[in-house]
Amino acid sequence: MSVKQLAVYAPASIANLGPGFDVFGIALSELGDTVRIEAVPERGVQLSVIGAGSESIPIDAESNSAGAVVKHVKETQGLDYGFSVEIEKGVPPGMGLGSSGASAAAAAYALCEYLGLDLSQKEIIRLAAVGEAAVTGSPHADNVSPSLLGGFCIVGPDYEVVRLDPPDVEMVVVMPDVHYENKTRLARSLIPEKVGLREAVFNVGGTARMTAAVALGDPVLFGRSIQDRLIEPHRADMIPNFWGVKQAALDAGAYGCSIAGGGPSLFAVGPEPEEIGDAMAEAFEESGIESETMLTRPSGLGARVV
Ligand code: HSE
Repeated sequence: MSVKQLAVYAPASIANLGPGFDVFGIALSELGDTVRIEAVPERGVQLSVIGAGSESIPIDAESNSAGAVVKHVKETQGLDYGFSVEIEKGVPPGMGLGSSGASAAAAAYALCEYLGLDLSQKEIIRLAAVGEAAVTGSPHADNVSPSLLGGFCIVGPDYEVVRLDPPDVEMVVVMPDVHYENKTRLARSLIPEKVGLREAVFNVGGTARMTAAVALGDPVLFGRSIQDRLIEPHRADMIPNFWGVKQAALDAGAYGCSIAGGGPSLFAVGPEPEEIGDAMAEAFEESGIESETMLTRPSGLGARVV
């Protein structure tokens, strides 16, 4: 170890992007988490969390996504010392913007740099997914992959991830003032085990079109591919006035609009993102829900030392 403390930033992300449940994720240019790690003689993992929503984030290593990553590395590497880990939250937790994934990705990247671990892309994604699993109960990699690699990521079996440069497109995210405990677990529990063939075919078409849109750099096709008949109908009830907010986005000219990750935020793509965001916020307000609007773009940058 040649450095005393190392800080790594990892960006927020939007998973699923409509059709690609647990498969697609894209890194965002706004918001990210910074994880600072330092080796300490005491053997445990000491966590502290500051920043957005930090009061709701557990600081025991087992149930914190960054802490679980550090604990896993400590155990698998047989280290006889511990770590002090500070997590500075820029990604608000429980909003569907890959908050636990950003912390896990930053921690995994930081440890690799700090300890000089020469992990392959697959191995570092698998490591970050250990952190995601600690919080959400599922080791899905559609948030940790873009938080690590940046860009538009397609998650395949066994953490084989294809990364493409993201499309040059403006996005709007509207975050309602709606909070659930263990939100991702809840959102995942709403999805049925089996889905209909017609709906599956519809989503397969959407994933193909979205991949083509990214490869072709076509923002309109990208936006039009934001459609989901597999997951959205089952999660809609988690979000007050979901269908009204989505319709407001489409009426304001959005090419497409869906749930960001496990929700409750919605995201949309269209030519006038500010107007679309205002219309969505208004629709939330009609049902008595305050919200915050963020204009953003995909980012090609993933985790990096800062
Ligand atoms: N693909 C995940 C889900 C993202 O929709 O449950 C949330 O972390």
